[in-house]
Amino acid sequence: MTAVDDQTAARTLRFPPGFRWGAATAAYQIEGGAREDGRTPSIWDTFSRTPGRVRNGDTGDIATDHLHRMPEDVALMAELGLTDYRFSVSWPRVQPTGRGPAVQRGLDFYRRLTDRLLEAGIRPAVTLYHWDLPQELEDAGGWPERDTAQRFADYARLVAEALGDRIPLWTTLNEPWCSAFLGYASGVHAPGRTDPAAALRAAHHLNLGHGLAVGVLRGTLPEAAQVSLTLNLAAVRGRTESAADREAVRRIDALANRIFLDPVFHGRYPQDLRDDTAAVTDWSFVHDGDLAEIARPIDALGINYYTPTVVAAADPVHRPAPEGPSPWPGAEQAVRFLPAAGPRTAMGWPVDPDGLTELLARLHRELPRTPLLITENGAAYDDYADPSGAVHDPERVSYLVDHLSAVHRAIGAGIDVRGYFVWSLLDNFEWAYGYGKRFGIVHVDFASQRRTPKDSARWYAALIAANRGRADAAGRTPLRGPAGAADLTPERRRGQQVR
Ligand code: FCB
Repeated sequence: MTAVDDQTAARTLRFPPGFRWGAATAAYQIEGGAREDGRTPSIWDTFSRTPGRVRNGDTGDIATDHLHRMPEDVALMAELGLTDYRFSVSWPRVQPTGRGPAVQRGLDFYRRLTDRLLEAGIRPAVTLYHWDLPQELEDAGGWPERDTAQRFADYARLVAEALGDRIPLWTTLNEPWCSAFLGYASGVHAPGRTDPAAALRAAHHLNLGHGLAVGVLRGTLPEAAQVSLTLNLAAVRGRTESAADREAVRRIDALANRIFLDPVFHGRYPQDLRDDTAAVTDWSFVHDGDLAEIARPIDALGINYYTPTVVAAADPVHRPAPEGPSPWPGAEQAVRFLPAAGPRTAMGWPVDPDGLTELLARLHRELPRTPLLITENGAAYDDYADPSGAVHDPERVSYLVDHLSAVHRAIGAGIDVRGYFVWSLLDNFEWAYGYGKRFGIVHVDFASQRRTPKDSARWYAALIAANRGRADAAGRTPLRGPAGAADLTPERRRGQQVR
């Protein structure tokens, strides 16, 4: 698409009134201040200090220094016209070591952040866990240990008591698939363990922690506050329609998607998942009552989407040597992963907006009464500031045009998508890739910490302005105040669960 077409698209895509226009970040990726205010190390502090784990030896010690530059960053959000901002709370900043009372200095940062957002007319959306488990809890066994679920619920209570009056949307976990399977099976994420049975236990305890936290949040937050979960669901495609390839799709769908969707929305684990993993674990870690806890109703489901997953049945004769421990317990021998077609981002991830359409259509079919939010979508490219200081990122603009168009079509087809949060507001610490991958719509020069909105930020601001009926794309009219909190799902207490 040419730049002119992009601008046209910005002017013509119209979303329903009240649609949430957001950007997302996560604590460890942007805050820095790793040792300030009594914060103790998280598993990502430990992991990033372990040689060979994170590219270039990068750590989140300083990151984008958001802890100290928060007012400037909120001003940027207001300039872009965002209606909503999704951030996460650093567990070891508010409850060092993962036990005991909250540290007020840690909570104060989030009080200041949410005050600023509200003053700027931007609704805060908080994620309680975006991967930074206090190291002490990992030392005590981490997510494979049942007690971690209870620790998480206790931490949720501390944050809800402190910030419940000012945050309308609460998300328990971000992408538990990554925490469980990249953290404990393939080991490419913190804490870097490679034990498939532990990964399945971790998945269950993340689900349980989510359910316990939902219970705590319902009991602590004002009635109007809303509670959600964010999953990186896979849009799984078979290479062919053959029975063998369809079987590969079924297996990966169970391990990527239904391992979370089924307990959360239907109060059960899929039998085929239990069967596929029977050689790895007997699932005795699922106790009586756990599933009822996990299936507590939520108000919305957050979806993070980047690229689809293409699979085929493994070739029984020619088995390539594995590249490392697999994140797919029980499926290592059965399934092959293939690259999807299409141009690639700097992550090597194919650009495929149809995958998002497929995913939304599926969720609408299976969970017709659950409002959906795109809580992350975006792309990394090798952006740089040109001699004039401008950052031109035409590929990211196209990526956003294509994916927002997919969301727009889905809404047109009757799918209940309530908002879109671009990943990410700022270039940041991209986990095992360190600072080498830039996902921001705002460029960060990590040496000077200078922020420069990229062309994609300007494009997004223009789209938002056009949709919010603002006077001009530069956003000169004042922002409306935050919309009422109770606009996600009035039906929640009638119960949305389909059993
Ligand atoms: C997601 C993470 C987010 C970011 C993007 C690129 O899996 O939730 O923190 O790293 O990927």
